[in-house]
Amino acid sequence: MALSLSNFLYISTILLFSFASASTRVYNFTAGWLTTNPDGQFERTTIGINGQWPLPRIEANVGDRVIVHLKNDLGNQSTSIHFHGLYMNGTSHMDGVASGTQCPVPPGATFTYDFNITQPGTYWYHSHVDGQYPDGFRGPLIIHDPKNPYADLFDEELVLTLSDWYHEQMPKLIGEFLSVSNPTGAEPVPQSALMNDTQNLQIPVQPGKTYFIRIVNMAAFAAQYFWIEGHTFRIIEVDGIYHEPTEASQIYVTAAQRYGILLTTKNETTENFAIVGSMDQDLFDQIPDGLNPNVTSFLVYDAEKPMPTPALIDEFDPFDDLTLVPTDGEELLEDPDLVVQLDVLMDNLGDGANYAFFSGITYVRPKVPSLYTALSTGDLATDPIVYGVNTNAYILGDSQTVEIVVNNHDPGKHPFHLHGHAFQAVLRGDDDSGDYDANAVLNGSVVLPRKPMRRDTLLVRPNGHIVLRFKSDNPGVWLFHCHIEWHVDSGLIMTFVEQPLVLQQTLPSRIPEDHYAACAAMNPPMPSTGNAGANTENFYDLSEANVSPAPLPDGFQTKGIVAMTFSILAGLLGIGTVIWYGLGEMGVIEADREKRKLDKVANERGVGSRANTSEGHAVDQITRAG
Ligand code: C2O
Repeated sequence: MALSLSNFLYISTILLFSFASASTRVYNFTAGWLTTNPDGQFERTTIGINGQWPLPRIEANVGDRVIVHLKNDLGNQSTSIHFHGLYMNGTSHMDGVASGTQCPVPPGATFTYDFNITQPGTYWYHSHVDGQYPDGFRGPLIIHDPKNPYADLFDEELVLTLSDWYHEQMPKLIGEFLSVSNPTGAEPVPQSALMNDTQNLQIPVQPGKTYFIRIVNMAAFAAQYFWIEGHTFRIIEVDGIYHEPTEASQIYVTAAQRYGILLTTKNETTENFAIVGSMDQDLFDQIPDGLNPNVTSFLVYDAEKPMPTPALIDEFDPFDDLTLVPTDGEELLEDPDLVVQLDVLMDNLGDGANYAFFSGITYVRPKVPSLYTALSTGDLATDPIVYGVNTNAYILGDSQTVEIVVNNHDPGKHPFHLHGHAFQAVLRGDDDSGDYDANAVLNGSVVLPRKPMRRDTLLVRPNGHIVLRFKSDNPGVWLFHCHIEWHVDSGLIMTFVEQPLVLQQTLPSRIPEDHYAACAAMNPPMPSTGNAGANTENFYDLSEANVSPAPLPDGFQTKGIVAMTFSILAGLLGIGTVIWYGLGEMGVIEADREKRKLDKVANERGVGSRANTSEGHAVDQITRAG
């Protein structure tokens, strides 16, 4: 594929961006469908902005104000924009999470995002309506830094996006994924990998220069190994946080992660070099025939010279991000005030589909966006119960040290992302290292880093664990979730409600009218006050709240569903369905087991302790000795 002019312009921004005094940057975005074919194999319907795809880049300086006027011209789908990685301090309602911090923006509606930029770095924006962004609604978001500590080390700046690409549209794929005919929860496998939303991109470079390359993985699913043949580079930024320059020759970039690297070119122009991204096929349950997991671009020193075919490599040996040290030297947050332990498991529910669980709870969208529940439930906003069991809400007080422990009881890799914060990546267990053992730290057999690296998206390894810490210094409603979009759809999400009483004092006057108008314009209209079940009278009455499907009957496990599915596939559809519904009835009667499990979780977390409604007390209820 030849280098198209638009791609050339896209990558060749040569610090034209001005560092003039703080300004307001206004983007008018109309989202609509168009046809694209970025891998040259298949024309498909894709979400573009203002008739363009790849999507425009959002750029600003630290200190600027950004306004994005979104108009939804999709006609058939609601949408939203999340600005991945921005702290949104004081503007949690601009975080763009449909059913979290706003109502979805229905077809025909407009919605304005308006926020101040307080942090430098490499970010991206994407729709945060379930499963939508892989249909194209994702683009880079770059915050330039007049005080970049490494500004003297580079000459030019480039943006390089990675992603995976599906030929089918998400609604169809999600339907197939979350279905009784996919009881093992096998995720759809992408058809291609892309760089800057194309393949075989030629990136012209000059000899003897240093480029600051901002790499963003906007994938739905696939992490990519990334390397540049014949070159090493220095990592200086990770998910917006500067780290001490560290040499690497290959990095592993999960969905939603970003790396800022310094690449110094060679002094001679005798050859061109391949830039390679290779999707991590460990993530795929089966590898479709003929899948090319790789995407190649070229570092072009001399366009007259050939573009090389990348060499095969024996094994992947990516840089370990946990060895990085943040430039600001921020030290380990000690002695957590609150430990949130999340055990990851995939399992089937009574509808036969495979769901993802954090400690027994799979996320289900509440009827009222959780932020609006926080604003409309008075003092009870500090009681997690009002947000509904299936948002898996934890209440955070002011300036607490919060520790998240993710124990991965699943044999898959998962990139976990926290909204509203970057966290200290304190610890990561290897494959099959099992659950985190706090005693190992106490008795000294595991030593925590003094200055842990920080980022907003971190990989947990198969049957391993990660430990993250952050300070609850940013009032808002913030999701924590796996950034594999399939697992967002199957419920691997929980909710932090940070300082809800502060939100009640600060946000109501800041939320613009068009945010509530979006709720009213939904069909049917979506409520914007009350608890998770939209009850505005009795906040403890969650009987109308959305809940997950009933659990499987006791003793009826995945194997049974697999067997049943095969019998359905074998053409016994009618009979299978009858048996299925019979078992479904049993499931309701025997649902007790799962309910007991949920009650236990709720009790452990202080859900349901209705007497304690002060912010501090609610938090005490779910505090464990750190
Ligand atoms: Cu990239 Cu919930 O976000």
